[in-house]
Amino acid sequence: MRIVKTKDYNDMCRKAANVLSAQVILKPDCVLGLATGSTPLGVYRQLVEWYKKGDVDFSETVSVNLDEYVGLAPDNSQSYRYYMNDNFFRHVNIKPENTHLPNGLAVGKAEECARYDAVIREHKGIDMQLLGIGHNGHIGFNEPGTAFENGTYCVALAESTISANSRFFSNEADVPRFAYTMGTGAIMQARRVVLIASGAGKAQILKDSFTGPVTPQVPASILQLHNDVILVGDEEALSLFV
Ligand code: F6R
Repeated sequence: MRIVKTKDYNDMCRKAANVLSAQVILKPDCVLGLATGSTPLGVYRQLVEWYKKGDVDFSETVSVNLDEYVGLAPDNSQSYRYYMNDNFFRHVNIKPENTHLPNGLAVGKAEECARYDAVIREHKGIDMQLLGIGHNGHIGFNEPGTAFENGTYCVALAESTISANSRFFSNEADVPRFAYTMGTGAIMQARRVVLIASGAGKAQILKDSFTGPVTPQVPASILQLHNDVILVGDEEALSLFV
């Protein structure tokens, strides 16, 4: 694992955006695995800025996102499709048809999981997967205690995740209870993983994930077995182990 320690959140975003844009420059038709949440927002802002300056071109790039809430329509402002359109896709020249997320409104859950796995397979896997990390160690929505699943599946969200995500909804009852997520197996098959983390609140879980035992109780710990992980974290997030 390579660790890039940055002085603060903005510096972390810039360095992570550097890694992602280098990937796109070296392989314009690469497949980027993308994440939502608070942490990547500045990364997307930086990529948009560099796109507008003409430094990076997404016209051939394909994206596959980690996850989507079950039951939310793409135009629901809390859906991850909406987040990606709003924070990234509509500001750059990635082709809409090249952007993929699970469909929160799909009728058959098993069919939707199989469809999403097929999308990843048809594009010959993920070149670079961007990840955030939950306070409980989740990556995507692979929650503690769930088996290390291979493909996309539908997961019941942990109470701690529901309450962490409730800040985006008018009340906790509105937070969806289920989500589609890529399994840890699919994440592990990405050729390179870039995990970003910021703030003291992530320090303990980063320590547990990268220096503790590999266990489904700490889903991100599986990344210890991946041979190409770049951890980009700010000083506060890395304070307990680097
Ligand atoms: C988002 C995702 C989640 C987040 C995690 C951290 O697509 O898969 O695993 O990366 O919940 O979220 P933030 O960045 O808001 O702390």
